[in-house]
Amino acid sequence: MANSKTSQLDEGYEKTNKMFDEMLPTLAKGDDWLGDQFFQYQGFWLPSIFVKGSMLIHQRFKPRPTDIILSSSPKCGTTWLRALIFAIINRNSYDFDENHPLLKSNPRDLVPFLEGLIHEGGSASFLESLPSPRFLSSHLPFSLFPNSMTSSSSASACRFVYISRNPKDVFVSMWHFMNKLRAREGLPPLSLDDAFDLFRNGVSLYGPFWDHVLGFWKASLESPNKVLFLKYEDVKREPSVHVRKLAEFLDLPFSAEEENGGIVEKIVKLCSFENLSNLDVNKIVKEEKTRRHFVSNPDFFRKGQVGDWINHLTPEMVEVLDQITKEKFQGIGLKFD
Ligand code: A3P
Repeated sequence: MANSKTSQLDEGYEKTNKMFDEMLPTLAKGDDWLGDQFFQYQGFWLPSIFVKGSMLIHQRFKPRPTDIILSSSPKCGTTWLRALIFAIINRNSYDFDENHPLLKSNPRDLVPFLEGLIHEGGSASFLESLPSPRFLSSHLPFSLFPNSMTSSSSASACRFVYISRNPKDVFVSMWHFMNKLRAREGLPPLSLDDAFDLFRNGVSLYGPFWDHVLGFWKASLESPNKVLFLKYEDVKREPSVHVRKLAEFLDLPFSAEEENGGIVEKIVKLCSFENLSNLDVNKIVKEEKTRRHFVSNPDFFRKGQVGDWINHLTPEMVEVLDQITKEKFQGIGLKFD
């Protein structure tokens, strides 16, 4: 039985590999900010490894209706939301003292990254081996998930929490992040102007940014009980309100006893930028080769503020980004502070 399952997975992998090898040369290419290339796959710019990741999810991933997928465009607050959701889900398993996993591990090490892990030899079985409810994270746009995960009529439709952010802050955050990675790889910095041209034209990691946001916004309007759409700025302004909202969306509302015990405030404090960014585990530069580049825990913490764009963007850049945002989001009730 175990053997037939393994060979089925391998067959699926081989089939996807073949499709991927045939399709990749047909895709448009763009600069990936790190001296390599993105591929335009179904309207979005992805490194080849995540093109294959999306294909493998279609082919191999077995969704469960209890799955929780944290989704985001990079630099929107993924690290923060990973921490908040992890703390909410596991609140009865750990004390909030020195033994909490979030005090010893970066949030990305506690939440499996779907389109990355699906590649590993036997990783589908690793994902399979996780107990329900599984909490996974992904940067894939909504349209790149299979219907089995996204269609409200599917018995295995998952729950998605999406974190979005003001495009101006996303751009500035991404530019800093990519330049840290470039420096580590001995590449010269990418100028703000060059990065801006790529970003405004949609050529950014999992971009166009605006289309990524739109996909989840529309899905959240269509299926509010399956897709929770959050904004970084709102969570920053009222973290306790959003912790309660998250818990309710996940069908794990806080009891009166928990509320009286101050659990919401404890979660907010544990996951705050000030707390997480000052932990030893998140300060020590331990270079770790991911599948693509050297990233290090401190890379995921910079300023953690709303509106830092004002310190970086020229008035012309602001005008361009505001205009694109206005055009893309016009008439759909979506605005960013
Ligand atoms: P800045 O570069 O603007 O500071 P992601 O986790 O999606 O990669 O996003 C990174 C951004 O979220 C960075 O923004 C980072 O500083 C910020 N961030 C990380 N942890 C945070 C936290 N606990 N609270 C608020 N912002 C956080």
